[in-house]
Amino acid sequence: MTTELLIGGSWREGSSGRRIAVVDPATEATIAEIADGTPDDALAACDAAASAQVAWAATPPRERSEILRNCWATLIDHTDELASIIVREHGKPLADARGEVAYGAEFFRWNAEETVRIRGEIALAPSGANRMIVHHPPIGVVAMITPWNFPAAMITRKLAPAIGAGNTVVIKPPKETPLTALRIAELLGEAGVPPGVVNVVPTSRSADWFEAVVDHRAVRMLSFTGSTEVGRVLLRRAADRVLKTVMELGGNAPFIVFDDADLDRAVEGAMIAKMRHSAETCTAANRFYVEAGVVDEFAERLTAAMAAVNVGNGFDDGVTCGPMINRNAVADIDSLVRSALMDGAKLLLGGEPSSGAGYFYPATVIRDVEHGSRLAASEIFGPVAPIISFTDHADAIRMANDTEMGLTGYVYTRDLAKGLRTAERLEAGMVGLNRGAVSDPAAPFGGMKQSGLGREGSTEGIYEFCETQYIATDW
Ligand code: SIN
Repeated sequence: MTTELLIGGSWREGSSGRRIAVVDPATEATIAEIADGTPDDALAACDAAASAQVAWAATPPRERSEILRNCWATLIDHTDELASIIVREHGKPLADARGEVAYGAEFFRWNAEETVRIRGEIALAPSGANRMIVHHPPIGVVAMITPWNFPAAMITRKLAPAIGAGNTVVIKPPKETPLTALRIAELLGEAGVPPGVVNVVPTSRSADWFEAVVDHRAVRMLSFTGSTEVGRVLLRRAADRVLKTVMELGGNAPFIVFDDADLDRAVEGAMIAKMRHSAETCTAANRFYVEAGVVDEFAERLTAAMAAVNVGNGFDDGVTCGPMINRNAVADIDSLVRSALMDGAKLLLGGEPSSGAGYFYPATVIRDVEHGSRLAASEIFGPVAPIISFTDHADAIRMANDTEMGLTGYVYTRDLAKGLRTAERLEAGMVGLNRGAVSDPAAPFGGMKQSGLGREGSTEGIYEFCETQYIATDW
């Protein structure tokens, strides 16, 4: 297993000699000890990225594109191995982990295609006096800070367009799930990514890592996925060097069910929107607003579906929800559930964390939750479905938008015009209309309001990693 730092194409022990224990959240056993990068290691990685960047940017787009396509094929060829690493360090069910590898690899295939299609323009100035040439060179060295909930895909979603556009990168994977990141980096080298283009420096001291990297002269961009709270801190500090930022931050997705919805589909979509990847996604349905005429039936059917969730070790057959990432996560979820019950909400299922080894929390359904309660206002990041009833459509939309977050929303109705009207009124970067999954490498992923800045994926994603240069010329 790869456990060292990747700097300039070589695997190095961290300069401190310290190690970080990686823990299996299903068993609490230490499964590996990896090098703990210091600020000096992070700076060495920035130097390596800076040295590699000019040659990489000068590599013809077709060649970069073909390397990206090799990366896709190589990751797919290693699906079983990568999925098994993901389950060991994150805990999600094996089927989800395999799905994540396919999803994560697809960012390379998609961006291989985008790499040869970065467009510019040429125009005659309105005065007729000169031409205006606009093109999109790479930004330079990009710092990336990635989360633990998708140990593979949240790296590849940033990395593929960044290197496709001709940048080089320094990645800080999360200390909870660094093994997937290190193995992916190794595989990318085998797929033809030159030394120094991708550098990976995990650390147990994230703030020190960032403090060093943000001031490195060659670093021109920060791409971050994580909480809004941390994102705000990084944005403030990135402002000191006026870094370009792409921020994928927290969510608090409303899931609206109108009384004309197909309830079979609504419950099926609710289970996907709530439970995919052990309910630890920022796109997760966080609050279910259900019209009064169908709220009893929806609650009953959702409770039956949640009761069928099999919580356990992601390697075990039939498990559909793995452990939470750590003990604090379980305590946070539990505290939110207890606060809702204290406020008078009614527990329909679950609600008790398990007491044995592993960080497990059961599938939980709570109804009669207050719209303004702590449970409804917080990003739960766990298998808890709060149900809130509504009678007035405008009120449902008002409650759905009554948050500083704006990542995802979901709407279920058989009336397509009503569905589209509602979707357009939701202050969310992504809306699932009669659909519980929105994520797709070919679609723009990102949030409105405090859920983020910029978009990942789609044709927009690669331009986030490009400058715009305009040349005024005459001939
Ligand atoms: C996330 O939770 O950060 C990403 C979810 C997704 O890509 O579907």
